[in-house]
Amino acid sequence: MTAVALVFAGLAALLHVYIWVMESLTWTSARTRATFGTTEAEAEATKELAFNQGFYNLFLAVVTAGGIVAYAVDEDTVGATLVFTGAGSMVAAGLVLLLSSPTRPAPRSPSSRSRSSPWCCSPSHSDRLAHPRPGTSRPMENRADDQLRALVLCCTLKPSPATSSSELLGRRVLEALGGHDVTGDLVRIADHHVAFGVSTDEGDGDEWPGIRRQVLAADILVIATPIWMGQPSAVCKLVLERLDAELSETDDEGRMLTYGKVAGVAVVGNEDGAHHVSAEVYQALSDVGFTVPANGVTYWVGEAMQGTDYQDLDPEPEKTASTTTTLAANAAHLAALLKAAPYPPS
Ligand SMILES: Cc1cc2nc3c(=O)[nH]c(=O)nc-3n(C[C@H](O)[C@H](O)[C@H](O)COP(=O)(O)O)c2cc1C
Repeated sequence: MTAVALVFAGLAALLHVYIWVMESLTWTSARTRATFGTTEAEAEATKELAFNQGFYNLFLAVVTAGGIVAYAVDEDTVGATLVFTGAGSMVAAGLVLLLSSPTRPAPRSPSSRSRSSPWCCSPSHSDRLAHPRPGTSRPMENRADDQLRALVLCCTLKPSPATSSSELLGRRVLEALGGHDVTGDLVRIADHHVAFGVSTDEGDGDEWPGIRRQVLAADILVIATPIWMGQPSAVCKLVLERLDAELSETDDEGRMLTYGKVAGVAVVGNEDGAHHVSAEVYQALSDVGFTVPANGVTYWVGEAMQGTDYQDLDPEPEKTASTTTTLAANAAHLAALLKAAPYPPS
């Protein structure tokens, strides 16, 4: 009886080593993504979490294997303690997953044995990894796999809690996207330490990698920027420079990770420059792999040489409101199309 139990414990330990390999070493590969049913963007966005979780599985395997070895050298008390701790934790974790999501649909690929295990690699497990809580704003939870997500990067120069016209217009774009069942978040860049540079991670306190994960988890990216002397804000240019790193970030088939994502622009000023700014931002976003929909900008500038800001207006100008509605409708439409029919390999 003990021998049979030890064989099962050994198999469970081996399975957990395999899960460690997938979660910590090969999480973003096509094969592991097929096993867990995650998209490239989801895998990219969750790889740090998966890396960490994989080691939990490895340590459970090590504890269980240690118990089997202890049995083999007649240290039965030590062996029983370690095997019950290791294998018992595996079973308990599996029960938690089963009880917390007993009605989840079957995983996409039937090929993987590990998917049928309730212990560590059930669909509910991968779904949790695929939908982490972003640290910077409202989490996007309870979404179906095909639900679209949006992220607004607000490029005002002012950190919170100062009020911002570009944030207000960005939030109105999110509201309008909500009408198309698109969930979304807004990140005010000035609230974060985003380093200058053109890489995905400039190190030493750079907060861009976390924001980048949110960009990669989104289907729609909206850049909301004020106009400064006829230009996009310096913060907006900083963001575009950081996005330049995406030129060399590709999937297994040579496509940029931004391919298939839609970009929109929201511009605020108080007198002039909206078309110039949107043209600059469009061009940069297209360069780094995003797709811009028809009428992909909403804006407000008012009359020449006056000082009223968008956030001063009540009610909101009808033209801007209807333009925001159009941007949201077209962005959601295009994002759904691209999700269903991705760009071919480059
Ligand atoms: C130095 C400076 C330059 C500006 N240049 C322009 C401009 O060229 N065109 C324009 O329409 N508004 C311009 N503005 C107005 C801002 O774009 C406007 O106040 C905007 O609503 C600020 O957005 P925020 O609250 O999100 O920062 C300028 C403001 C400042 C302070």
